Amino acid sequence: MAMTNILILGAGSAIARATAQRYAAQGARLFLVARDPQRLDTIAADLRVRGATQVDVLAADLTEHERHPAIVAAADDAMNGIDTVLIAHGVLPDQEACEADARAALAAIDINFVSVVSLCTELANLMAERQAGTIAVISSVAGDRGRQSNYIYGAAKGGLNTFLQGLRNRLQHAGVHVLTIKPGFVATPMTEHLPDRSGSLWAQPDDIAEGIVRAIEKGRDEVYLPWFWAVILMIIKLLPEALFKRLKL
Ligand SMILES: NC(=O)c1ccc[n+]([C@@H]2O[C@H](COP(=O)([O-])OP(=O)(O)OC[C@H]3O[C@@H](n4cnc5c(N)ncnc54)[C@H](OP(=O)(O)O)[C@@H]3O)[C@@H](O)[C@H]2O)c1
Repeated sequence: MAMTNILILGAGSAIARATAQRYAAQGARLFLVARDPQRLDTIAADLRVRGATQVDVLAADLTEHERHPAIVAAADDAMNGIDTVLIAHGVLPDQEACEADARAALAAIDINFVSVVSLCTELANLMAERQAGTIAVISSVAGDRGRQSNYIYGAAKGGLNTFLQGLRNRLQHAGVHVLTIKPGFVATPMTEHLPDRSGSLWAQPDDIAEGIVRAIEKGRDEVYLPWFWAVILMIIKLLPEALFKRLKL
């Protein structure tokens, strides 16, 4: 397989790390962006040991949107071109806190949606000019239907899904691939506070990573991971709103 140059935003994410490990084993070049510089160094060292040809890192808080053009340019320079980008950063906000204080709701929308729109816009223009590349973004099944227990997170991911549909339609004509990744429940630090993560609906980060690598390779548009969430969400989306609004979900 030809060597690939991969930019990972939110490289400290458990799902992103598992994905990066798979690409490192293929000898990829990687450029990692995350908040904590020390953790970045540890992650980079691990990926070098696993076979990555080159690993560069950059520490950034991705809510600082004005830094996005420089981040994309730095990755492009370091790897001599970006083939694939994986956008993995995100937060699962406390829904009750978001209801009590609009500032908490807006902060969750900012990191989960606005920052991704900003980054994808920069990357799309670069890749469209070169007529090549893949933009893979981790969304969530939570974006498919709003429900009372997590609709701020869901709204951010739902907005992201619509944005990515439009971006895919635009970039189709420029030879650039846009992938929307919709995981279900995954045992990562994000969900650590949730009770009983051992049930059959729960996946491990590496299960999701395997699906991400395969979907990128196959040029898929959208992927539910694991696959059975496609069936669950199909049923959830079929329920009439008049019934759905009465459920305690
Ligand atoms: N876990 C699930 O059940 C699940 C399900 C569906 C979708 N997802 C999505 O999967 C993606 C990866 O999440 P994960 O499950 O792997 O959880 P995770 O390990 O908690 O990763 C989330 C990452 O986002 C980073 N991040 C948060 N705010 C940031 C900011 N302002 N600037 C830069 N980075 C920031 C965090 O960095 P720090 O380490 O610095 O905090 C962390 O590394 C997210 O988009 C999430 O919404 C997760």
